[in-house]
Amino acid sequence: MPTTQEPPTVSPIGRDTPRVDGPRKVSGQAQYTADFHFPGMLYAVPVGATIACGRIVELDTTAAEKMPGVRAIFHRGNIGKIFRSTPGQGFEGICEERRPPFEDDIVRYYGQYIALAVADTFETAKAAADAVRATYAEEKPNVETHLEADDDPDVVMTTFGPRHRLDSQRGDAEAAFASAPVKLDQTYVTPSETHNPLEPHATTAMWDGPMLTLYESSQGVVNLRSVLAQMFGLPNENVRVITKFVGSGFGSKLWPWTLSPLAAAAARQLGRPVRLVLPRKMMFHSVGHRPRTQQRVRIGATPEGKLVSLQHDYIYQRSMLDAHHEDCGEATPFQYSVPNLRVTFGRAKRNIGAGADMRGPGAIPGMYATESAMNEMAHQLNIDPVKFRIMNEPKIDEGLGLPFSSRHLLECFQLGTEKFGWSARNPVVGSMKRDGLTLGWGMAGCAWIAARFAAAATVQLRHDGTARVACATQDIGTGTYTNLAQLASHKTGVPLDKIEVALGDTSLPEGPVSGGSLATASIVPAVLAAADNAIASLMTIATATPGSPFENRKPDDLAFEEGRVFVKADGGAKGVPFADLLKRANLGLVSGSGKSEPTFGNPKPKFSTHSFGCHFVEVTWQPEIARLRVSRVVTVIDAGRILNPLAGRNQIEGAVVMGIGMALLEHTSYDPQNGAPINSSLADYIVAVNADVPPIDVHFLDFPDKEINELGARGIGEIGLAGIAAAITDAVHHATGVRVRELPVKIESLLA
Ligand code: MOS
Repeated sequence: MPTTQEPPTVSPIGRDTPRVDGPRKVSGQAQYTADFHFPGMLYAVPVGATIACGRIVELDTTAAEKMPGVRAIFHRGNIGKIFRSTPGQGFEGICEERRPPFEDDIVRYYGQYIALAVADTFETAKAAADAVRATYAEEKPNVETHLEADDDPDVVMTTFGPRHRLDSQRGDAEAAFASAPVKLDQTYVTPSETHNPLEPHATTAMWDGPMLTLYESSQGVVNLRSVLAQMFGLPNENVRVITKFVGSGFGSKLWPWTLSPLAAAAARQLGRPVRLVLPRKMMFHSVGHRPRTQQRVRIGATPEGKLVSLQHDYIYQRSMLDAHHEDCGEATPFQYSVPNLRVTFGRAKRNIGAGADMRGPGAIPGMYATESAMNEMAHQLNIDPVKFRIMNEPKIDEGLGLPFSSRHLLECFQLGTEKFGWSARNPVVGSMKRDGLTLGWGMAGCAWIAARFAAAATVQLRHDGTARVACATQDIGTGTYTNLAQLASHKTGVPLDKIEVALGDTSLPEGPVSGGSLATASIVPAVLAAADNAIASLMTIATATPGSPFENRKPDDLAFEEGRVFVKADGGAKGVPFADLLKRANLGLVSGSGKSEPTFGNPKPKFSTHSFGCHFVEVTWQPEIARLRVSRVVTVIDAGRILNPLAGRNQIEGAVVMGIGMALLEHTSYDPQNGAPINSSLADYIVAVNADVPPIDVHFLDFPDKEINELGARGIGEIGLAGIAAAITDAVHHATGVRVRELPVKIESLLA
């Protein structure tokens, strides 16, 4: 007979679910990387090069070494061996900057680490780092903003493997463009942008004999482990990476950076834990940025508005040694129906740090260009931009020649136009007014990949009626703790507040990176299977335990719902809580493991899997004082089933905020004299803040995508940033008559 009464639970899937880690965050109990303290811990501060191109001739560390409290000044001569790392087969060992720190005396970008001061306190380490003197043989750096493609071979090696520079091709785009009745040929430019998560990059490294442990602010602990194992010549099992909370990353913490091996090497030399937290200024140097892009888009169309050709040729900047691939053409081959298409890319080396994934890498700058071109073409054709897109809606993914697993872009347009009131738009530039302000209305579509990374998880049902779910993925602020708890609760019936979630630790079952908006979709099958397996073990125990109410039954006769086991034929009312069955068998817990098979990078997919959406934007323009504001945004997203609409809306709102920043504010400028990022502070690198942001009206369609996982959930971290800048610049044109094709929109560009 049941001895405990659990309230009946409802699955939290699809319900607004407040973050399970929220109370820990607001009460200060959530431990971010720099919150962990260790006995004897030392503090490290890097010394960055003050040139962007040249060679270190002399490094004078004498004054720094003499300072009281300084333990060591590390440099090329005394850091000890740090090996290179290399990618493994599949999606493993990814790294954006392969050169180990201090490998040679060549400086290739401003801020490149040339030394590391380690001291008893942070203040001493900082003073010592400042006291290191470097003499350089300096050459003029190349930080030229105009991009011409380097003379690269047809197939280039990138961070993500070999890529053909002819991205995609069908028909004869050149010839079709030449004979097209209506043509558009424009070039769009997006600047370097720098990730500015609230929490800077942080790492604390410590050794216990041959075992290396890193507390790190990481979006991918498993990948970081494999890269570090290579860099120190260790088996993977000897390296443990722990990331309990991340103060966001936007992609900057997705792949390893050189600060981590530096801290580990310093800790190895000194036999003490070493903590390294980057100052904000260094966040602009050596931990990635969204590369500058220059994208030529050519569209040919019939006067009626049917696309006949689309060419997208993009160039992006990269660092001297590394090959981050900014995949601007990702969405181009499938977003619209067009018989003739060609997408190519080129790269231009610059004396800057390695580029990196930044929220919606590739497709976000890419769709700014292609969606802007679509808007311009619609304007040229005198066709409404929504109607123009509907006229060119594809039936299948014409790039892959595959059906979409689920594409409801037309429904997005329908809902978006309704919610925004788009039918009231007068297309004449400057014609719409309200309260003395000129209004501009613009829109754009968007798309983002959907897939699964490999993932493994365990679920435990415990004798006290609680459950535990574990997966070595991370919560970068997006709600993964909550998603894991929701999934475990969904299957086990254990209420959310009785589920322990363990993540961010390589000692747990291997989980996915928090990247590509793929983490949620990836963990679903693993957690659900793990819970099923735990429940199956429970059934066996229920039938095998002497004195169990189900002693003479077969496991197949039993069912499990809402935390109770019952005989199928009897129905759920007579269920016995799992905790009772475990206690009766003197078991602390039953455990189940589950795996998700990856679909990301599948060379032979059956479907094209993407999320879709659209933005409708209103800006207000006051020509008298040159004041431009985004005053209204409606965003509709088709991302399959939304597991947690509350956190989901947060994601899209955050992405739209970032999109306002992308369109109007964000850019990193490099000094042509010394190659330094000039605006390398939060005072000078302007991001959108509350005062820049109007109410954002977010809607999700609800079309579960069963190709992705059994719940039909795709991902939502990045798609909200796709297309928004194109919608804003089109609204700016509608209000002002000025076409801005280089982001961000500057007020001076709007002054007639
Ligand atoms: Mo996102 S740029 O894949 O962290």
